[in-house]
Amino acid sequence: MSVRLNARLSQIASYIRKGDSVCDVGTDHGFLPIWLKENEVSDRVIMSDVSRGSLDKAVRDAAEELDREDMPDARLGDGLDVLAPGEVDDIVIAGMGGIQIIDILSWDIAKTLTYSRFILQPRRDSALLRKWLAVNGFTLVDQTVVPENGRYSEIVCCTSDGASPADVSLADRSTVQDLFDADPDGWMELEYPEDLRDPSGQGTDRKYFLSELEKTNYIIGNIKANSDAGSDMLRLLCKRRERLEKLCGKKN
Ligand SMILES: C[S@@+](CC[C@H](N)C(=O)[O-])C[C@H]1O[C@@H](n2cnc3c(N)ncnc32)[C@H](O)[C@@H]1O
Repeated sequence: MSVRLNARLSQIASYIRKGDSVCDVGTDHGFLPIWLKENEVSDRVIMSDVSRGSLDKAVRDAAEELDREDMPDARLGDGLDVLAPGEVDDIVIAGMGGIQIIDILSWDIAKTLTYSRFILQPRRDSALLRKWLAVNGFTLVDQTVVPENGRYSEIVCCTSDGASPADVSLADRSTVQDLFDADPDGWMELEYPEDLRDPSGQGTDRKYFLSELEKTNYIIGNIKANSDAGSDMLRLLCKRRERLEKLCGKKN
């Protein structure tokens, strides 16, 4: 029996070009590497995790599904430490927070830039991650949103083409956070980019924006009802609401 990927992992897999070598950083269950092998997308697949328990689980799962000679290479370690420079074409980092992803990518930015394609799926702080990628000159290929168990997953595919951290300090996550804090209004477009598309064409992008709008309205209502504090926060939330209303077609 072959592994079946959910919509999120399928979308991630769709960004991996046939023949590319891949490392799935933070693989956990190992579904993606197993699928890539089973479907003969990649000959060379590495699965890594910082947790021994997770990696052992991935190895067990892979052993059930694959012949011995097809087993992905399993490596225990932190982020890109498990790889040599340029060892693979594609890096997948999925199911972690955006800040955690930035920490992995910025740990040794010169090494990071030796890999060509990055498929990133931040669970939160996606705007911060987009800012970090932009500051470091990565080229965006595509960004999508897919449904998963009643929530939405944003996926960003980019390449290191043309990327070079002109100023090494900008590679750092805290500097990017400072850039953000200095221009909080600049968050909006990075939080909810206009070109965030639903690959299935079933309007998930609009549903996502609508659910974010609902959440934002709820928070605004709570703040207004319970305090006179947070006027700056309230102003930003109102801006967010305006942007989401526009994206949902409720406002011009
Ligand atoms: C929520 S799981 C995501 C699993 C899989 N990538 C997915 O998207 O379904 C996150 C995994 O990342 C691993 N992880 C967290 N930080 C890591 C790091 N710095 N380097 C490698 N793995 C890490 C965790 O041990 C865990 O197994």
